[in-house]
Amino acid sequence: MPSFLAAALLAWYPRNHRDLPWRHTRDPYAIWLSEVILQQTRVAQGLPYYEAFLAAYPTVQQLAAAPEQDVLRLWQGLGYYSRARNMHHTAQQVVSEHQSRFPATYAGLLKLRGVGPYTAAAIASFAFDEAVAVLDGNVYRVLARIFGLHDDIAAPSSRKVFQALADQHIPTTAPADFNQAIMEFGALQCTPQKPDCLFCPLQTTCWAFQHGQVALLPVKTKAKASRVRFFHYFVLRYGATLYLKPRTEKDIWQGLYDFALAETDAAELPVDELIRHLDGLGAVLDTSRAAEPAPPVALRHVLSHQKLEARFVDLPLARPLPAATVRDLGLKAYSAAEIEALPKPQLIANYLSSHWPTI
Ligand code: ADE
Ligand code: SF4
Repeated sequence: MPSFLAAALLAWYPRNHRDLPWRHTRDPYAIWLSEVILQQTRVAQGLPYYEAFLAAYPTVQQLAAAPEQDVLRLWQGLGYYSRARNMHHTAQQVVSEHQSRFPATYAGLLKLRGVGPYTAAAIASFAFDEAVAVLDGNVYRVLARIFGLHDDIAAPSSRKVFQALADQHIPTTAPADFNQAIMEFGALQCTPQKPDCLFCPLQTTCWAFQHGQVALLPVKTKAKASRVRFFHYFVLRYGATLYLKPRTEKDIWQGLYDFALAETDAAELPVDELIRHLDGLGAVLDTSRAAEPAPPVALRHVLSHQKLEARFVDLPLARPLPAATVRDLGLKAYSAAEIEALPKPQLIANYLSSHWPTI
């Protein structure tokens, strides 16, 4: 006997689900790609990336063999770039340690780098029909409401409560459909705001609906306020080239390219400080057209835990940067075509597309 939850979800799913490409495959590689891309990403945003990755790298061997820079470039715009680097590493691990085949069990999948309980459960159920329940934000919300669970879903200790409950309800006869169904139900019916309770098949059994607490569940403590950072970018350019550098620090955007950067604790960079920085770089400005640098372009960029207040100063040079600067900072002059091919943070891509200097 399937549980009331499984019965309701499996009846609801065929009539309401979206037709999404990763639901037509049993290839663990394609499923894994889709799940890595869809973490922290909306379906509408993730879809074209899924198609692009599968087209560029149809097999795990091809992804494993790709240069990291190409993988990051294809990922550009999705954010959370460590996901892309982990994904690339996992592909190499599957090739070198597992003869290019994904492990066929939840336990085996969990041992792969960057594969947590969610992704392991998704692949194990969708590709191999193992009855292990997925837990993502949608699933937490659906379970919290239907069963009246008040555990804080932001607390790691809540996971085992929800996992045990979901594992109790997943049917061994249709684990893949149950997992797709409960996520889809959360995405379409039992949404965070304004869930469609009036036309919900679970209305009569739903604890939150019966107790008038739909808007109060799930319980989730607020993430701490994000930190504000002030970035002053020096857009050094010489002739038809711009100087960029790879980000090597253990910070946001590792492996992506940006400009020479001074981070301070104020939105304004006083002119004398700018000059000091330029002297430090050995930069000699071309003052033939204007004596002073043009006022900076200000752009805001919001990340999950940081707010960036960025200023870009356009700095035409009278001569190339000294070799020592290029060596020490990793700065290098790139043509427009070369820059197009480099992986860049969205902030930098936005700046370039709207303020590409006329050079
Ligand atoms: N989000 C994460 N995984 C998903 C999936 N398999 N289908 C739809 N949305 C998802
Ligand atoms: Fe979600 Fe409302 Fe349905 Fe309960 S009744 S499962 S809160 S949509």
